[in-house]
Amino acid sequence: MKQIRTQVGIVGAGPAGLMLGHLLHLAGIDSIIIENRSQDYVIERVRAGVLEQSTVDLMKKSGVGDRLQHEGMSHDGIYINVFGKRRRIDMAALTGRRITVYGQNEVVKDLISARTETGRPLIFEVSDVSVYGLESEQPAIRFTKDEESFEIRCDFIAGCDGFHGICRESIPASQIHIYERVYPFGWLGILANATPSSPELVYSRHSRGFALFSMRSPSVTRLYLQCAPDEDVSQWPDDRIWDELLTRLQSDDGWKPNVGPITQKGVTGMRSFVSEPMRFGRMFLAGDAAHIVPPTGAKGLNLAMADVWRLSRAIQRHYEANSGDLLDRYSQDCLRRVWRAQQFSWWMTSLLHRPDTDNAFDQRRQHAELLYVTSSRAAMTSLAENYVGLPIDETTGED
Ligand code: PHB
Repeated sequence: MKQIRTQVGIVGAGPAGLMLGHLLHLAGIDSIIIENRSQDYVIERVRAGVLEQSTVDLMKKSGVGDRLQHEGMSHDGIYINVFGKRRRIDMAALTGRRITVYGQNEVVKDLISARTETGRPLIFEVSDVSVYGLESEQPAIRFTKDEESFEIRCDFIAGCDGFHGICRESIPASQIHIYERVYPFGWLGILANATPSSPELVYSRHSRGFALFSMRSPSVTRLYLQCAPDEDVSQWPDDRIWDELLTRLQSDDGWKPNVGPITQKGVTGMRSFVSEPMRFGRMFLAGDAAHIVPPTGAKGLNLAMADVWRLSRAIQRHYEANSGDLLDRYSQDCLRRVWRAQQFSWWMTSLLHRPDTDNAFDQRRQHAELLYVTSSRAAMTSLAENYVGLPIDETTGED
């Protein structure tokens, strides 16, 4: 087995792993990033697209924000369509902060080019990944690449390998607490070559269920509709998708999305998940490896970025000041933000989806809440504050 040595071994080259590698590089700390998928897969994989201002600021400050600055679409507000009546929430006026629409795969592309420029290792298409010695001073990652076995010896391991990754799974069950809620619906998402017909996102609660209008570029619209969690996409020819989207999204003011050729479709399940703590010995979990939010609040990528910002600072402090204080606080500091976002994402999901049981009381209650949230300045401010996100170095509440 070939031995390699680095300071931080990073498992996973999604936004969390790549951004961590980048921030560590800026601090002069060496890392190796390994990923079991191919570079093309990681770049092409269509995911979320809403960046909080703090994520945008982090990308710009760390020198990977040039393309984002030119191609990202800055939005001051969102619309909520309440059974046909479209109301706007002016987040910039209410909070002074805004969001930017820029695909996660674009973020990944920018981070891969930054990594490549540094010449530091980023190894795709590895297999048989496993982690060892997590409670020792020198944990290790083993993997196979092109039929050769490798062992990376490091000071720390960062588990950035997503919900289905091996890092969280390698923690003894007795050392970890899982909090989870699975929703009785999913989202059918499409990308279409159609000019976005609204400059801002439209979240819609229709009697047939939730739908969302979003975008990826001045010529690409991204749309979602609430479906069963195990919905079979093959039952959804393009015409059926457009019928349903137009029915659920169009509003009494005449607005509706533009129709165009569908270039991609897929179904995503909806889950809230947190594993605590986000550390075991010298392995730290970040992003989806530690927590999943339902996509309604657009928080997943932003949480991952906040985690790795915190982790990079903590690791830097270990090397520069020989102090483990920030590493010791990593999990608890991350989890405050994570639980804030969990609450918000659960709330947005409950507010906007058609429940699986048609309880008339719940329907009336939800309708009343939708009217309140789209008319009271206090309620709109609360939604806006959560949606635009906290500054990256701030959390809410007491220790
Ligand atoms: C997206 O553009 O993919 C998107 C936007 C807002 C959400 C979720 C997904 O809440």
